[in-house]
Amino acid sequence: MDWKWSAHGSRFAQASGILELMNDLGEAMASGDENLCMLGGGNPSPVPEMQACFRDQWKALGERPEELNAVLGKYDTSQGSPAFIRALADFLNQRYDWGIAPENVGICNGSQTAFYYLFNLLAGEGKKILLPLSPEYIGYAEQGIDPELFQSVHGKLVETGDHLFKYHIDFEALNIGDDVAAMAVSRPTNPTGNVLTDEEVAKLSELAKAKGIPLMIDNAYGAPFPGILFREVKPIWEPHIILSMSLSKLGLPGTRTGIVVADAPVIELLSSVNAVVGLANGNVGQALIRPLLESGELEGLCEKYIRPYYESHSRQAAGWWTEALGDSVPWMRHEAEGSMFHWVRFPGLPGGSRELYQRLKKRGVLVIPGDAFFFGLECPATEQSECIRVHTAMDPEKVKRGIGIIAEVVKEMYAGT
Ligand SMILES: Cc1ncc(COP(=O)(O)O)c(C=O)c1O
Repeated sequence: MDWKWSAHGSRFAQASGILELMNDLGEAMASGDENLCMLGGGNPSPVPEMQACFRDQWKALGERPEELNAVLGKYDTSQGSPAFIRALADFLNQRYDWGIAPENVGICNGSQTAFYYLFNLLAGEGKKILLPLSPEYIGYAEQGIDPELFQSVHGKLVETGDHLFKYHIDFEALNIGDDVAAMAVSRPTNPTGNVLTDEEVAKLSELAKAKGIPLMIDNAYGAPFPGILFREVKPIWEPHIILSMSLSKLGLPGTRTGIVVADAPVIELLSSVNAVVGLANGNVGQALIRPLLESGELEGLCEKYIRPYYESHSRQAAGWWTEALGDSVPWMRHEAEGSMFHWVRFPGLPGGSRELYQRLKKRGVLVIPGDAFFFGLECPATEQSECIRVHTAMDPEKVKRGIGIIAEVVKEMYAGT
């Protein structure tokens, strides 16, 4: 059969960038090869204490038969589970005094889904989503029904130490034209591990407010949960801010629970989209986490187990880069301020990061080549083909071995062999 897709369908058929990488990861995983160093994906790490906590919550839910019957046997409202939404609104108000009501909270099947809906509800047909700091999350790249949805501004790269750098927003280059429908940032940033400073976020918020457009803040790794943040920052919310959160990086990606905190009309529209597209959301994640929000335990668990887990793995990996690369080749790593990744740049790397990716794949190491995170730019960034993203919170033996192999391959490439 010769399949003919609509324009909308063709967008997905052409979503080759992310698909190719996901297929590589999937194939590598399916091969069952125990020696592979899978440092490419975005899976949360198995934090033992969190796994134990979720098992306990699972058991406890089983012992509340009425609630379990409702969770499994009834469609939730299209906004999300009312008890969870109330618990979350109370928690956020107690913690940050945002003055939000249940009408300000909506659930989606993962925050990825929420972004797909929100980007396309706000922009398209000439209206743009402005990404103030490129490189930005690969998962947005193909989400526009309109293929020209994103307009990005390259970050200002500031050297911060020996083989270290940090991106800042280049506010001088940030021109918010009349065609900009919204701005969006991930904080902490996937892929770089950058955390925008409070000043940067406040300035973005002021600019958005003055222009009468929303600022979308993707808080998938941020505070108050999962709190994969290695420096103190202050989360903010106001009615022009669309804040997304997720249960995934707590360790529950399988429950597909994304959370949106926004002005009531945004939540109302999202609920309508949920109803039209999928009737309702999965509610198991909400049922598992609600008691931990109500008891106030969740934030303590994040502080006690999640942040130290990711921070110690990140620190350890930082030492391995230095050990493996030393001063033998040009290289620099982004400051690891949050999330699960290291973003490493090899200036002037002969063959570039795609060649590096292919060579590493042959040696059993999977990373993500950096070019996939630079989209929506008017001109290619200098470092576009010089960077890789490496998941550092995997099995330490594999991360160490993987970094060693990356160093060997990079040295070969610089030596022209
Ligand atoms: C920055 C960022 N935003 C959103 C998501 C989507 O997460 P989920 O759909 O599992 O909530 C991810 C997943 O890796 C991410 O890294």
